[in-house]
Amino acid sequence: MIHLPTALVTGANRGLGQSIAVSLARNGHRVVAAHRPGSDISETLTLIAEAGADSLPIALDLTDVPALQSAAASVDDMLAQKWGLSHLDVLINNAGIGVFGNFEAVTPEDFDAQLGTNLRGTFFLIQALLPLLDGGGHVVNISTSLTRHVSPATGLYAASKAAVETLSRSLAGELGPRGIRVNSIAPGPAATDFNGGAMRDNADMRSEIASHTALGRVADPAEIGNAVSTLVSPEMGWVTGERIEVSGGAFL
Ligand SMILES: NC(=O)c1ccc[n+]([C@@H]2O[C@H](COP(=O)([O-])OP(=O)(O)OC[C@H]3O[C@@H](n4cnc5c(N)ncnc54)[C@H](OP(=O)(O)O)[C@@H]3O)[C@@H](O)[C@H]2O)c1
Repeated sequence: MIHLPTALVTGANRGLGQSIAVSLARNGHRVVAAHRPGSDISETLTLIAEAGADSLPIALDLTDVPALQSAAASVDDMLAQKWGLSHLDVLINNAGIGVFGNFEAVTPEDFDAQLGTNLRGTFFLIQALLPLLDGGGHVVNISTSLTRHVSPATGLYAASKAAVETLSRSLAGELGPRGIRVNSIAPGPAATDFNGGAMRDNADMRSEIASHTALGRVADPAEIGNAVSTLVSPEMGWVTGERIEVSGGAFL
């Protein structure tokens, strides 16, 4: 029987997460489409079906760490019931928020919200799903090109993602002996709802940022999705502990 790999993608209801889920579906994955409780995942499930793949939705809030354990137990149950599986091949930690502002304007509440979702939520979701990834899983954490270059008012956000990159490298070392690969993908500016849709809807900001990329434009979300599904393909099986930037050559 042909083994179809199974991938869980957080924040799969829109933006980069939706593009990643669809690209994985096109490349032969079953997709567990994770979304925040109350957010509508139906469009993504339809796109996955149109790509010829099977999916199941799971509601999961990264800020509710105790609930991540029960979400992981639900994933375990659903994998067994729907597909007769007890293993997850791929975990894509895509969901995240961007709290932007000048250093002196950042409040402790901003700080906790930013780190709480991007670092704390990602950290404890990996921990909760680890038993399902054992013996041949791949974790991909979505970072940002902003960990390499500097833009105004992005320090808190960039620091949260730098922490995720450091966690990725550390986990690659710790979990490699258990057959688990861990990498981060660092996208450059992409046209989604992120930052109030600035990259997509604010023509001035878009052309200013685009002028600092080698390719002279911001990303179509599909380009990030395709990079992620390429990274998790068997051809890339010797890659772990890496940060791979997908930014069209931003701020070279
Ligand atoms: N777009 C860019 O230019 C860009 C560049 C570099 C890196 N990134 C990173 O790429 C990732 C996706 O960004 P995007 O552009 O697709 O942003 P987006 O359109 O704002 O989508 C963010 C996703 O994260 C989910 N999310 C946020 N908080 C959550 C929580 N507490 N629990 C569960 N899900 C939560 C959102 O759910 P709801 O729909 O319920 O809010 C949504 O699905 C983020 O980590 C972002 O930092 C984006």
